[in-house]
Amino acid sequence: MEAKLTRRAEYTFLDNLKRGRHRWLRLTPAYSARLVAERLQHYPSSTRVLDPFGGTGTTALLAAQMGYPATLVEINPFLVWLSRAKTRIYTPDAIQSALEWGQMLVHKRRDYTHGACEPPPIRDIQRWWDAESLAWLTTMRTAIHATQATVAQASVDLVWVAFAQCVIEFSNASYHHPSLSFRQNRQLALDMHSHDQRFLEYLHETARDAHSNPCLEPCVIEADARTLTPLDGNTYDLVITSPPYANRISYIRELRPYMYWLGFLTDGAEAGELDWRAIGGTWGVATSRLKLWQPQLPIPASVADIASRIRAAHPTNGVLMANYVVKYFEDMRLHIQRLTKLLASDATIHYIVGNSSFYGVLVPVEQILAEFFAEQGFGSVEVVPLRKRNCKKELREFEIIGRL
Ligand SMILES: C[S@@+](CC[C@H](N)C(=O)[O-])C[C@H]1O[C@@H](n2cnc3c(N)ncnc32)[C@H](O)[C@@H]1O
Repeated sequence: MEAKLTRRAEYTFLDNLKRGRHRWLRLTPAYSARLVAERLQHYPSSTRVLDPFGGTGTTALLAAQMGYPATLVEINPFLVWLSRAKTRIYTPDAIQSALEWGQMLVHKRRDYTHGACEPPPIRDIQRWWDAESLAWLTTMRTAIHATQATVAQASVDLVWVAFAQCVIEFSNASYHHPSLSFRQNRQLALDMHSHDQRFLEYLHETARDAHSNPCLEPCVIEADARTLTPLDGNTYDLVITSPPYANRISYIRELRPYMYWLGFLTDGAEAGELDWRAIGGTWGVATSRLKLWQPQLPIPASVADIASRIRAAHPTNGVLMANYVVKYFEDMRLHIQRLTKLLASDATIHYIVGNSSFYGVLVPVEQILAEFFAEQGFGSVEVVPLRKRNCKKELREFEIIGRL
């Protein structure tokens, strides 16, 4: 069975590129709206949907478009902002005023050349953007900041979404790797006029998508999936989500160009702090803290076994990576314990997860999380292979389907 598993691009972010608001901002580890739709369609419209690792808001937006009441939890404030912008019901007036303001920004942008704010402190920034693009981004950002108080928040958000698209489109970023890297020998060479035109094109596309409103607005909450405190008193029937994988991919690292330009990050220390708070985070200060980290809960036998094999597999980094894996599973166990308390007695969960590997030791994330769900009283827990990943050949994505 597994031998036939393919990459199934229809379940990845690539499928979102033709789906209106779902393509607003690229996060490579996002799944597709189609994956969510295939699961949701089997449930009645009163089903209360929860995504505790909301990311770019795929589940919440799709659920809202299909008329389901949905709640999204996410720890990254930038993704919370984005999910709110993506799932909002926009009035025609708000959209029109975003378009008019965007036009004004293009006319007035040059007035902000002197006194334009510095580019953000992204390391090796000249590898990311050529001089023309950097000048355009800094003046446009200054112009948006200087005039946004005159426009309603909904319109402001649409303009920032278009600006965020420019941040990445004008850059050298390449998505041909599992994580963000640079294109080789890219010649963008847009002049300022073309930058302005591109911005207006993105704004018009964003405005067109904004006209297509969801049936209702989901609830988007900035919170930690290990505690889920703001959800106290609520009950959910269905969870469709994709938690971080135990593969050291840092969402802050992936999102840093957007987060810096849109003001959600001001320096590297802050980036490391945010990554330390996220499950599976491992960037900057997160790595040095991991060296000293001690488990709070007893380590389950399955996790202890994997950790000891990783420790033995590499003379210098084995201990750190073993700690990483133990912490990842402790965090996910805390999440599953907490989540279960918020579920209706007949609730169902769909968790899309990837396995991972350290120094040749395969970490069966899907099996261990399935074990945690069973431990919490899920009567039926099934693990279904979903797709191959684009990296090492032993890496797969799975769906854990659990019923209480
Ligand atoms: C695989 S991504 C989810 C992608 C999402 N399905 C989508 O389509 O965009 C996992 C998300 O979990 C978030 N996350 C990590 N730790 C968290 C925590 N403790 N609480 C809530 N969210 C967290 C990350 O910021 C990331 O956005």
